[in-house]
Amino acid sequence: MTKLPGLLDTEAIRKDFPILDRQIHDGKKVVYLDNAATSQKPRQVLDALNGYYERYNANVHRGVHVLAEEATALYEGARDKVAAFINAPSRDEVIFTKNASESLNLVANMLGWADEPYRVDQDTEIVITEMEHHSNIVPWQLLSQRTGAKLKWFGLTDDGRLDLDTIDEVITDRTKIVSFTLVSNLMGTVNPVEAIIRRAQEVGALVCIDASQAAPHMPLDVQALQADFVAFTGHKMCGPTGIGVLWGRQELLEDLPPFLGGGEMIETVSMHSSTYAPAPHKFEAGTPPIAQAVGLGAAVDYLTSIGMENIAAHEHAMTEYAVRRLLEVPDLRIIGPSTAEDRGATISFTLGDIHPHDVGQVLDEQGIAVRVGHHCARPVCLRYGIPATTRASFYLYSTPAEVDALVEGLEHVRNFFG
Ligand code: ALA
Repeated sequence: MTKLPGLLDTEAIRKDFPILDRQIHDGKKVVYLDNAATSQKPRQVLDALNGYYERYNANVHRGVHVLAEEATALYEGARDKVAAFINAPSRDEVIFTKNASESLNLVANMLGWADEPYRVDQDTEIVITEMEHHSNIVPWQLLSQRTGAKLKWFGLTDDGRLDLDTIDEVITDRTKIVSFTLVSNLMGTVNPVEAIIRRAQEVGALVCIDASQAAPHMPLDVQALQADFVAFTGHKMCGPTGIGVLWGRQELLEDLPPFLGGGEMIETVSMHSSTYAPAPHKFEAGTPPIAQAVGLGAAVDYLTSIGMENIAAHEHAMTEYAVRRLLEVPDLRIIGPSTAEDRGATISFTLGDIHPHDVGQVLDEQGIAVRVGHHCARPVCLRYGIPATTRASFYLYSTPAEVDALVEGLEHVRNFFG
């Protein structure tokens, strides 16, 4: 077995993930390399979800009975865990949503309904990048269409990085918000956050970071980042689906208006008007995803027990190995950085002129799960003149043997298609 410095004890870790023992296609052990789409869940998270429904299930914040109080303590306890995980100065800065898309839409809509000094209108500009997931493009297009604000973006270099040469022309005195991903979901590029934030701060623009592909893989410290908003999702970091997070700076959450109205987010309601509860509740209308938050809390405990630094080191070693091995495959072109520096463990590639859907199907027949398509980041494919990519993405339980299986699988694909 290939041993690399920095690897975690994957033999022990994999025992926590029942699904990794699954056999498919006549007894082939599944090689799960689709972690950028969603991660698998450890038994600790599955037990927390089940335990919640078996022992505590009730609606939160409104009951006087024991179950409601316990459910509320668990839900709010999950908020404490997430706040500690991202080093938030206050638990009240952690808003639960249903996913990162909802978190990003929430920011766009807070600004869309805001008065000065946050108001977005035809005299202002919104800045994103060409490597965003659609969830960090479409909400800003909608806001731009509604308000007349100009939508601008950073382009990409040939090796899959942000082209910041024109940073002073892209981010200007008119910029109201700069929203960008910390790690590209298609290429794995890790972006130079500091340079962008420094320029945004110079012109007084707000900064929103999509950390969906970062929070599962590296330590995330919102105070060190110095952004105004950070969005991520639970299901990519060992948690369940249906739970996302928006962290926002407290004074902004106090000032900005709510987006969804309903129960839980109010202080008082009359037939003429309403007043709102303080953040985070102001932004959590209706019954929240209670069990999912509890599951995310268990995921945070799990990741913390392994250590985010250790997970990052494991993935770096895996990335170095995977990039090296993949580049040995004839006709394989990595879309994005082709070294392990400043990139995460998500690697997109093309294989000659074989369509990625065909690559994915032949790999699947060998038990290897990858994702194919434009990965909800179609502008990246347009930029590089390709219809789609095959994407292999690794996580804390991934092994060098799985990289070897992928490389062998790709050889099989090449032979299959002649
Ligand atoms: N956002 C997920 C991905 O990148 C679905 O695959």
